[in-house]
Amino acid sequence: AERDAHAAPIRAELARSLRGRRFLDLLYRPAPQFLAPPADETIVCRCEEVTAGQIRDTARRLGVTGPNQMKAFLRCGMGPCQGRLCGPTVVELIAQERGVSAEETGYYRLRPPVKPVTLSELAALPPTDAAVKAVVR
Ligand code: FES
Repeated sequence: AERDAHAAPIRAELARSLRGRRFLDLLYRPAPQFLAPPADETIVCRCEEVTAGQIRDTARRLGVTGPNQMKAFLRCGMGPCQGRLCGPTVVELIAQERGVSAEETGYYRLRPPVKPVTLSELAALPPTDAAVKAVVR
């Protein structure tokens, strides 16, 4: 109950932020050729230089079921943008190859930091007791 009470204002803010999201997703739906480029040589993951053909081939030959598993084989989604650019396309290509929906295929597991952070930014964080104890023996 205490956890739910703490989460209530955060959930309310999230709901406010997501209001209208479905409308925007429908209005600005990416073109089919963007989500699933027909040419195999099209670069899908710019960060890791992975092509549409490599993703199709890996999904077909190795039976990759989702984007997180695809990371292990091709590193797509592991570049500096952490899959922000390639995520929807990787999901769509895997889904088409498997003959299932994008929802069933899933999406990259998002982990912090949710945006690239430099080491100097991390080093500039004020030290906490827990952080000091973590490195002092
Ligand atoms: S484009 Fe794939 S990780 Fe950046």
